[in-house]
Amino acid sequence: MASPRHLAIVSLPGWGHLRPLLALSRKIVDQKPDVVVTILTAGEVIKKAHLELDRYFSGEQKLKDNIRVIGFVVETFDWFQLFTEYGVLIEPFYKSVLQQETISCVVTGKSYEPWPKPKVVLFDMYLNVFSTLKAVDPSVKLLTWSPGNTSATLRTCGPEEIGGNGDVSAKARAELERSGGEQKKIESKITFGTSGKVVQIPGLPPMFDYEFYPNEIMEMQHDLLLGLFTNGYRSLTGADGVIASGSIAYESEALLAYKDWCIRQGKEFYTVGPLALLNNESRSLSQSNANEKALSDKGLDIEAFLNQAFEKYGAHSVLYISFGTAWWPNPAHLHAFIAVLLELKIPFISAHATPASALPPDLANKIQESGLGLTSKWAPQQLILNHKATGWFLTHCGQNSVVESLTYGIPLIAWPLGGDQPDNAARLSVILNVAYQVIEARTGEAGLKSLKRGAQPSGTVEALTREARQILERAQGPDGAQKRKNAQAIASNLKRAWEVDGDAYNDLKKFLGKEFP
Ligand SMILES: *[C@@H]1O[C@H](CO)[C@@H](O)[C@H](O)[C@H]1NC(C)=O
Ligand SMILES: *[C@@H]1O[C@H](CO)[C@@H](O)[C@H](O)[C@H]1NC(C)=O
Repeated sequence: MASPRHLAIVSLPGWGHLRPLLALSRKIVDQKPDVVVTILTAGEVIKKAHLELDRYFSGEQKLKDNIRVIGFVVETFDWFQLFTEYGVLIEPFYKSVLQQETISCVVTGKSYEPWPKPKVVLFDMYLNVFSTLKAVDPSVKLLTWSPGNTSATLRTCGPEEIGGNGDVSAKARAELERSGGEQKKIESKITFGTSGKVVQIPGLPPMFDYEFYPNEIMEMQHDLLLGLFTNGYRSLTGADGVIASGSIAYESEALLAYKDWCIRQGKEFYTVGPLALLNNESRSLSQSNANEKALSDKGLDIEAFLNQAFEKYGAHSVLYISFGTAWWPNPAHLHAFIAVLLELKIPFISAHATPASALPPDLANKIQESGLGLTSKWAPQQLILNHKATGWFLTHCGQNSVVESLTYGIPLIAWPLGGDQPDNAARLSVILNVAYQVIEARTGEAGLKSLKRGAQPSGTVEALTREARQILERAQGPDGAQKRKNAQAIASNLKRAWEVDGDAYNDLKKFLGKEFP
């Protein structure tokens, strides 16, 4: 390589943050094989990143060397401390990168030759690194990386003009001066408000602020989240621009509002989603299916189950249930929902990733006897969503699950618990009409208040049973068919995004053309 051009990326060490950046880097070197990318992050996740890159570049070792993932701090189990100190910890490494020195990964021990000074640095908006990066060298352009849950990001980190919480620290300081109190407590009250204020975020229906807390389990994480959201606001307002991993096919209104705001502030803005999957070649998809199957405790059983369900019940008959790896709903509610599936003879696959998710023995027996359900600790999600027998996805609506479901044109049954899930659930059910939302699964004080659009949950098992019957019956009729049609339309737009002249392809091309002409 004569003289490569260099992009540096500072990533948060969580897989959900790093993986899309790896996919983006892959797309970058596809378009510009003379651009090299250094990703700086922390901890053991680096090893997983190297495996993921192997998957993206099977047989193209040379191009793969354009991307290097380097650790500047070892694994730590205190995330709160890690996030507080990220800026301090990265400083010496970042200086070495800019001064074109050899750097060593503290996780793998591998050392890396100097590359030219990066022209642009992209950093995860949730990190508190902006002021460090700026101070080390104000001449380097700093863009911030914004995750794909755009409406939720605007709500939690965005400026007030587009519905966000705005400068929470400043607002809290002002209140402190007026009426006393404790800075952090006031910030928390502003950020996680449940007073019944109407919130209007681009891409979402009008909602009461408490609707974003449908389930009581969120509370414990407030301290960590408050820090991340405050960083998010500082990153957005400080950076020279934003690269958003959201997708026009799924959240056009929020992305447009985001872009308008950036342009008004004199900032650049690019949209490069979806990056949840590399939906390029079917070869690598079937390869990843094979990997997925091997990872699951019942990969082969699941495939056989889907094939049989297709024979016996037809296309789109199977309901897939998963709440991801970190979340789990109120068990009484979920068990009631499964009982309705048995009553209505709807075949289903359920993934139980968390220890909290064990089924009571009598329900497990009933499922076994009925032959209608298959439960597994971890299910090969893409294989299931891509199977012709699969009809619906019952999900907590984490961003990755939503985008994967829509990528395969599968409509959803939304059961949000926290985080960005209530935003997604409202968008999917009210705005896009590709989902039903389970309202009676709400719990806790905020969760059981009435919704802006009219519903009043009671949260009892009886009410949930009634609602489950209603939803599942409608899903099998013309109403469900309409939602499927809408989901399939989004699927084809998501696929087009990365084709030559697709919207994500073009925005990345614009960015690369500007920085690396
Ligand atoms: C898709 O994959 C093919 C073959 O692996 C590759 O030549 C092409 O550049 C890829 N396109 C995109 C947009 O990633
Ligand atoms: C949006 O997604 C990112 C990861 O993709 C996550 O860290 C963040 O917490 C999400 N936002 C909200 C409000 O949940």
